[in-house]
Amino acid sequence: MKVVFLISFLRLLLRFLFGFLQHGIKCKPKSRFQKLWPYQPRSLYEHWTRSLSIEIGWIDDFNKIIAQYVKHYQQLPMFYQHSQGVRGISLSSDCTKIAVSFANHSIGILDIKLRNTEFILKGHSSYVSCIQFSPDCAVIASSSFDRSVRLWNAHKGEELRKLIGHTDRVQSVQFSSDGNTIVSGSLDATIRLWGAASGKEIKKIHLFSVVLNVQFSPNGQSVVCSMGNGVIRIKDIALGNEKDLKGHSSAVVASYFSSDGRYIVSCSSDATIRIWDVTLGKIISTLQGHSTNVVDVKFLPGDQTIVSCSYDKTIRVWNITTGKETQLLQGHSDWVTGIDVSPDGQVIVSCCEDGMIQMWG
Ligand SMILES: *[C@@H]1O[C@H](CO)[C@@H](O)[C@H](O)[C@H]1NC(C)=O
Ligand SMILES: *[C@@H]1O[C@H](CO)[C@@H](O)[C@H](O)[C@H]1NC(C)=O
Repeated sequence: MKVVFLISFLRLLLRFLFGFLQHGIKCKPKSRFQKLWPYQPRSLYEHWTRSLSIEIGWIDDFNKIIAQYVKHYQQLPMFYQHSQGVRGISLSSDCTKIAVSFANHSIGILDIKLRNTEFILKGHSSYVSCIQFSPDCAVIASSSFDRSVRLWNAHKGEELRKLIGHTDRVQSVQFSSDGNTIVSGSLDATIRLWGAASGKEIKKIHLFSVVLNVQFSPNGQSVVCSMGNGVIRIKDIALGNEKDLKGHSSAVVASYFSSDGRYIVSCSSDATIRIWDVTLGKIISTLQGHSTNVVDVKFLPGDQTIVSCSYDKTIRVWNITTGKETQLLQGHSDWVTGIDVSPDGQVIVSCCEDGMIQMWG
């Protein structure tokens, strides 16, 4: 086993070095090296590590490393085109389904493998602002301008529960990482916690400004609230302590914790993305490039890279260390209204006001 491993490693290393030397000496655009490896330098490394890891059976570990350091996204031929504008998107953590909210108040559950629409969920009487799969992929939570949050069976397409309590439009809904609790945020300036199984309101917290988005911290003890007045509030659920992050010059549309809880990434209608140090309560970096409202942003695995989408019709990938944009994904012809990322960072899904759902990988 060890000998096989060593031989395949050396063989690939030599093949790679041989090509590299040839390329280095000749310096011609059409050297044999390039015919052998018709890739950009970045994907060359990706290709090399991939073939190596496939040969020695390490593909899973290498995929993670690639995702972290050299993942270069391309538009995949896989897409869905709907006649309705798509306003929100969630990818199930097992990557088999996509849930989307349509402008006509319905929710669609799409099967990725079969490439069809499995269910259309009807029930909300107004705009569906946010949807999310539960961590076990069995339930979908949706929030709506009809002031309700609803839970749906993702396998059967039935409505399970209607969570009533908010007195204005509900903007955002999220499951805790253990799936037991749901948090929702509303224009009624409150966030509410609900039992996922009972559908009962557990707690109501007043924030005194409209809440556009709310997300749990990784340990579930705090939430981060994005508010219409440009402030981000971190609230400890049990103790009630709070900390405000101020810097955005317009409404904060969404904010998320990094996986270790040390950082927050936020996006705003002021066209910027900001990275914050939670302990210091300070901005570390302001990412500029989008030309108008940034409507969603997500950390990629490893917390070194983020991906964002905007009404400027683009998706962008950013290196947090440098604060620079590393990739511009173009292909949508209207507002990109939502993005989601697979747990391994290999796939990005996006949705657009023109009815297009696109995958990138
Ligand atoms: C980000 O940039 C830094 C500095 O150039 C580099 O060392 C690092 O590998 C980059 N990270 C990613 C994830 O591309
Ligand atoms: C809303 O649009 C979707 C996608 O085009 C469609 O499948 C669904 O039937 C529509 N819902 C209603 C209530 O018309």
